[in-house]
Amino acid sequence: MATTFSGFKLGICLLFCVVGLALAELQPSNFYEERCPKALSIIKTAVNLAVLKERRMGASLLRLHFHDCFVQGCDASVLLSDTATFTGEQNALPNKNSLRGFNVIESIKSALEFICPGVVSCADILAVAARDSVVAVSAHTIGKARCTTYRSRIYNETNIDPYFAKSMQKICPISGGDNNLASLDTNIPIIDLFDNGYFRDLVNKKGLLHSDQVLFNGGSTDSQVQSYVKNPILFQFDFAKAMVKMGKLSPLISPNALATTSFSSSSSSLLSPNYYGHSCPQALSTIRRVVENAVQREPRMGASLLRLHFHDCFVNGCDGSILLDPTSTIDSEKNAFPNKDSVRGFEVVDEIKEAVDKACGKPIVSCADILAVAARDSVVALGGPTWKVRLGRRDSTTASRNDANNNLPIPSFSLSQLISNFNNHGLNEKDLVVLSGAHTVGFARCVSFEEHIYNDTNINPYFAKRLKFICPKNGGGNPNVLAPLDMATAVNFDAAYYGDLVHKQGLLHSDQELFNGGSTDGLVKKYWRDPKAFYNDFGESMVKMGNIKPLTGDHGEIRLNCRKVNKDY
Ligand code: HEM
Repeated sequence: MATTFSGFKLGICLLFCVVGLALAELQPSNFYEERCPKALSIIKTAVNLAVLKERRMGASLLRLHFHDCFVQGCDASVLLSDTATFTGEQNALPNKNSLRGFNVIESIKSALEFICPGVVSCADILAVAARDSVVAVSAHTIGKARCTTYRSRIYNETNIDPYFAKSMQKICPISGGDNNLASLDTNIPIIDLFDNGYFRDLVNKKGLLHSDQVLFNGGSTDSQVQSYVKNPILFQFDFAKAMVKMGKLSPLISPNALATTSFSSSSSSLLSPNYYGHSCPQALSTIRRVVENAVQREPRMGASLLRLHFHDCFVNGCDGSILLDPTSTIDSEKNAFPNKDSVRGFEVVDEIKEAVDKACGKPIVSCADILAVAARDSVVALGGPTWKVRLGRRDSTTASRNDANNNLPIPSFSLSQLISNFNNHGLNEKDLVVLSGAHTVGFARCVSFEEHIYNDTNINPYFAKRLKFICPKNGGGNPNVLAPLDMATAVNFDAAYYGDLVHKQGLLHSDQELFNGGSTDGLVKKYWRDPKAFYNDFGESMVKMGNIKPLTGDHGEIRLNCRKVNKDY
């Protein structure tokens, strides 16, 4: 049996085989923030256009990155054409007449050279384009394979569904038609969820390629395939993680390549972006480093840290009160209804606090400021916008479970309840709509959306059906099962959440309330059509939220440990 290289399918194979490979130091997606801030959005737009023009291009770009990384690391060697003195990889057997998408990469490169010459490497373009193409296509039916790559399987193999083999033989005759294409995933997509149909195909012996079917053929990977069949969300999650890992294979890194962020000072408010500029210039880069590592380890952590800042600010201001553990005198907010078994990220905050105190040589950065900076850095690490965080908050010496119960919005709220909840915190309708865009990342438990999928009518029925599958009625399943808040791109900070709402695919009742014939419909549509406006307004509203009742001057304290008030330390 000939070994074939089928882009997406072997990309999937990476889920099982990349673990354990040596990793090198790479900066996440804000690496080009200073020297070419538009780099990521240019790549994304070009990939979106290319995929719009030809859906198959998504798979081709993904495969290009994979074939690059697996030949001496992700160094764009695959892009080099042959010359009189040089024989490149493009004519290697697995690539010849098969790899494509070079023109898309070239057009991205020339656009980037035009706006920031000599900055963005071709290897990085490949990695980002691969990520964006998965997002653009939403990955199901992502690729097609040529007849030559699966002929032998459909005529000679036994671990194949006979009806499936027969139908494929119609597309791919025993001789001739070498370039006829067949879809690598036989399922018809219902909604834009990162589909696990590929794995269902394998279990039903309908893997098109030999190299696909070996993943489910009585061997060690059978159980992994089955777990992706049972849990599409797990697949989506693991896929994102594997992509990050693959992009780290032996890259060539410039020794000077360290991105820095500068923060210019601002005026009037008591908080200032440059607050630690003199006392601890390395504070912000230290926080960023820990956040970036945490998000690389687990992309969801970015969402969780973002939410922590929100849940801190909405309960008596941004004062780090949410971080306090219960004691005889602290009625911890962690036990309030909206937080219990739900908010997370406390270990990462501990890690940041330890690192930043060490870097500064003394505990001068407050836990409340750590939350504000970590929220921003998380958004950036997930591919979203950046903004200047105002700093100088101090930490509370109290917490209130009751206030957390009373002041945090809950998913059953109507639009008017959401608006008045935000008004109570000095935030307007626009802030509500734009900050809810945070639900472009992260996950929710069944218990948070069960009512919506079973009882509400303003929901896409296919979408509801899909969710009911993982979330049986009355907590019949595990109430802690998770679904992505933004079905299309759960670990990518983008404007897709608003598209979800317009298509009645908001996961929470409170999400869909923002687009349900009421006063906020217009804003939802605006952010859907204009992601730049969303990015810009998100930063502004985050600053506004971060300004809610900070403790400054002599109020509060700078905690030594974010989980405890200093007198208990
Ligand atoms: C408008 C009112 C809001 C409501 C009713 C709401 C409610 C919720 C609920 C119920 C969850 C899922 C919790 C679970 O099932 O465990 C959630 C998750 C999340 N929320 Fe909100 N939220 C709101 C606004 C916001 C805002 C303003 C932000 C940030 C600026 C935010 C950020 C997040 C994030 C990132 C997650 C995912 C967290 C993770 O995966 O760990 N939410 N929200």
